[in-house]
Amino acid sequence: MCGIVGYVGKQNAVAIILEGLKRLEYRGYDSAGVCVEKGRKLDVVKKTGRVDRLAKEVAKSRLSGTTGIGHTRWATHGGVTDANAHPHVSSDGRFALIHNGVIENYAQMKKFLLGKGYTFKSETDTEVLCNLIAYHYAKEPKRAKGPSRFVESVRKTLRHVEGTYGIAVLCVDFPGEIVGARKASPLILGVGDQEYILASDASALVSRTQNVVYLKDGEIAHLTPKAFSISTLDQDDVSPVVDTITWSVSDAEKGAHAHFMEKEIFEQPTALENAMRGRFSADGSTAQFGGLNITPGEFREIERFMFCACGTAWHACLVTEHLIERFARIPVEVDYASEFRYRNSPLHPRTLFFVMSQSGETIDTLAALREAKRKGYRVMAVNNVVGSSIAREADGGIYQHVGPEVGVASTKAFTSQLLIGAMIALYLARMRDMSFSDGVEYVEALKGAPDLVRHALKQAPRIREIARKYAGYHDMLFLGRLSLFPLALEGALKLKEISYIHAEGYPAAEMKHGPIALISEKCPAVFFAPKSEIFSKIVSSMQEIKARKGPIIAIATEGVELPKGVADDVIPIPDCHEAVLPIVAAIPVQLLSYYIAVERGCDVDKPRNLAKSVTVE
Ligand code: AGP
Ligand code: GLU
Repeated sequence: MCGIVGYVGKQNAVAIILEGLKRLEYRGYDSAGVCVEKGRKLDVVKKTGRVDRLAKEVAKSRLSGTTGIGHTRWATHGGVTDANAHPHVSSDGRFALIHNGVIENYAQMKKFLLGKGYTFKSETDTEVLCNLIAYHYAKEPKRAKGPSRFVESVRKTLRHVEGTYGIAVLCVDFPGEIVGARKASPLILGVGDQEYILASDASALVSRTQNVVYLKDGEIAHLTPKAFSISTLDQDDVSPVVDTITWSVSDAEKGAHAHFMEKEIFEQPTALENAMRGRFSADGSTAQFGGLNITPGEFREIERFMFCACGTAWHACLVTEHLIERFARIPVEVDYASEFRYRNSPLHPRTLFFVMSQSGETIDTLAALREAKRKGYRVMAVNNVVGSSIAREADGGIYQHVGPEVGVASTKAFTSQLLIGAMIALYLARMRDMSFSDGVEYVEALKGAPDLVRHALKQAPRIREIARKYAGYHDMLFLGRLSLFPLALEGALKLKEISYIHAEGYPAAEMKHGPIALISEKCPAVFFAPKSEIFSKIVSSMQEIKARKGPIIAIATEGVELPKGVADDVIPIPDCHEAVLPIVAAIPVQLLSYYIAVERGCDVDKPRNLAKSVTVE
């Protein structure tokens, strides 16, 4: 899941690569490294720790050159050490390589190469790949014309590789050139003014160009200072399609905010406006989507839905399940993408398959999509990153349109997924039993969501105070019911991923079947207590916790009276339509976990052991 940058051009590659790595750091931050090719030499600087640390080392070593590659690592094979940091150099000193992914058959290839006299300095799968290129290069004839020996040796190597990769390679015999390739790990090519940049995602190159080519699986890009070409593993030439990125560098910057997560939390009203723009019918009674590539008639035939995703996106699927079943009365199943892909689940023939993924690069979700397609199902994607692997491979989809999300903890992507889920439920419901007037009411409620979120965000100072009080605890429970049960899961995930406090999410009434054993004055519970027909049941669960001295934070509808003494702290949320409630309820748990993490001095945007896009299994 690491970040990759490669630069070919006339400028100082080092500065451009370091800037790119800084923007990609959210993808992995175990170590960072850079290599420049200069005067037929490969100079490498690499270090454990963050890009800032690398930048200091680079400054000391006065590294410079106009062609180079850089990497931020999220370790899969081998510990977090300087030796395991990328770039790796082949034992003959001829190639330097950076890699995102996992080479599954690396052990047998390493054995083979050791037998041929190649040596290794790291424990990584990546170094094996680098040496295998050197091995094929040594066997490759020198040629005056036709495909370059450099490109051919990379191509031959990749034909022997099992696993996933996004790579960029330098070769001392080909100054000013980079060869890149991808399979299941993202790689895009920025086409600039007399320069080309390879990167894992657009944030690393958008400050230099908005013209990009999204490389496809099995494609190899060859960059020289004057031109680039793309071919396949089978040696077929590919005519590149140059797309334009519609957002600019300022969208991927923190501005006045202390963290990206804070910026992205407060951006949610606008993000929601962007996600719903143009997506309501002219009569204002239903939703409409441009890119689903499915006719209303075909939609009408669907008898079941299957949603697959990971992490926060999986929570958004659970809320969507609730809303579709509640309003459209169509059965929905939700599965972890990582489980679905291996579990060979029997699917009803009239199932429409959906995947949800902010990045569109999560390998488990991509694999679930492929598995569903292999079984002959049509797959739709709800996805934020335009041109991502999932967006390209799905049969149709709905873009979230919330701009780049950089904080590792997903916030604005989550609420926009909830919004899109609510819109899908509306669309399906209006095809069935939902009346015109109920549809209009639903649409008006969704249109009002950004303002309600603005209102909920006003509680930030109060939530900050509450966070101070609870930042020292080691365990916390999050409890909710119906559409807010997934919000309890999300609250717990948010808290644990950025503050490292152990947290669990449960349906409030399930608490008494086990988790209540955890309750004491040392284990607070966050309760969602919105106005609803089961409000009194939720209050009973709260009483059960209070009876066992558990501190309670209640997220409750404004103006609704809680029995005296049942909650230690109350965070009010505005009263709203059922379809909007999960969106509004997300705000206090996002702010609570954010402020608790800040209070504990945690690295909010780059929590330990995590990475933004999980592109390895
Ligand atoms: C969210 O806070 C997490 N960092 C994580 O669970 C994330 O939602 C998950 O990895 C899925 O990512 P995706 O939406 O990009 O597929
Ligand atoms: N497998 C490589 C390593 O462990 C790359 C990991 C990644 O993609 O983050 O170094």
